[in-house]
Amino acid sequence: MGTANLLQFPDGFAWGTATAAYQIEGAWNEGGKGPSIWDAFCRQPGKIVDGSSGDAADDHYHRWEEDAGIMAGLGVNAYRFSTSWPRILPEGKGAVNAAGLDFYDRLVDALLERNIDPYLTLYHWDLPQALHDAGGWAARETIHHFVEYARIVAERLGDRVTHWITHNEPSVISLLGYLTGEYAPGEINPMAVFQVAHHLFVSHGYATRAIRATAAKKPEVGIVLHLRPVHPASDSEEDRLAARRFDGLVNRFFLDPVFFGRYPEDTSEVLQMIMPKTEPGDAAVMTTPTDFLGVNYYTRFVIKNDPAVFLIQAAEAPPKESEYSMLWEIYEPGLHEMLTRLRREYAPSKILITENGIPVPDGIDFDGRIRDYRRIRYLRENLAQMHRAISEGVPVQGYFHWSLLDNFEWSHGYRMRFGLVYVDYETQKRTIKDSGRFFARVARSNALDATEGGHGTW
Ligand code: FCB
Repeated sequence: MGTANLLQFPDGFAWGTATAAYQIEGAWNEGGKGPSIWDAFCRQPGKIVDGSSGDAADDHYHRWEEDAGIMAGLGVNAYRFSTSWPRILPEGKGAVNAAGLDFYDRLVDALLERNIDPYLTLYHWDLPQALHDAGGWAARETIHHFVEYARIVAERLGDRVTHWITHNEPSVISLLGYLTGEYAPGEINPMAVFQVAHHLFVSHGYATRAIRATAAKKPEVGIVLHLRPVHPASDSEEDRLAARRFDGLVNRFFLDPVFFGRYPEDTSEVLQMIMPKTEPGDAAVMTTPTDFLGVNYYTRFVIKNDPAVFLIQAAEAPPKESEYSMLWEIYEPGLHEMLTRLRREYAPSKILITENGIPVPDGIDFDGRIRDYRRIRYLRENLAQMHRAISEGVPVQGYFHWSLLDNFEWSHGYRMRFGLVYVDYETQKRTIKDSGRFFARVARSNALDATEGGHGTW
């Protein structure tokens, strides 16, 4: 291995994989768990492309120990997972389900025994159905239930878990859950979209305070945002303005409240009719200082002017000649672009890449191996882009690949395979893909050989 292209990462860098409770646990009605909005959504005909659900998923609820062992074998030193709110509080509030807390307690111990640092996400989209029936995230009351749930988890696990994430991707929760209706709860209700987002931000601030006040070990707390550079489809003034509006909708509307305690002015003007109701004091709560920003990076948006689109008057125009995965354009330079922009415009003291990955149609080869070269290439390119940003001074201190295992990809069902580890859903057998071996090499050496990635080199 030559050293000319060896990209070294900073000491103490966190290398991990990421998952979410509903996508891997299964056991949807076992161990005292209550139903979530995803349990209900998957039961509505036509909502999930292959008619599937997370009922069984990867059966991680029973196979957590094997999965912890797989992570140890990958040589990672960190793991991002989420706790299921309705597993811990079946009704969303009130009585705690001891078996639910016990499950995460055992998981955390299993990770620590293997020198894997837990990064715990409290909300990765599985709102207890009972709370949704009472108004869900559109109701201000839900903020208080979330904070109480955060307190309960911090009280039980805060002596061992030191990295906490309040919410995963408020933009996806609000825009896909309440504007396009593609994700649970599947509403198309423009009046609710930004009210939901606002309640997520306020609950993030209060929960951050509650975790700090409760956890026995000094916690680090942050929020995870889904961020994508927005590029105009052409050089025309119209398209450039449209891209700016779209950037306000998908990026700045979710960054500004956390960093500045307000919504972007230009976007607020465009969305005037559907802006959220706020209360005095909300700004101070939303800007409760965090310890890191979590960035989920997958792709970019290419946007054209489109007067037919409600309020925002902009629409996607993905370039035809680009390379694509099963879901998105493959555009690795966007990671560097987004990271340097964040430093310039928001200056977070610490950034974690909390998700990054690619769905490709992996198959098992004649000899049982899974040669997922495209994932390796994507991973290598993204890590190189991240390294470039770090060498320019962006404080990235960890990278979590989405995902550890192939799993239930929301409304896309099981067709999208994102894992470093292949899952045979019939038998639940796990097989490490070539990308998993590649990632293990990076994690173990804390370095990337940027020339690596040709056939047979791992
Ligand atoms: C992100 C989600 C994660 C996963 C990836 C592919 O938006 O946070 O759960 O589905 O996309």
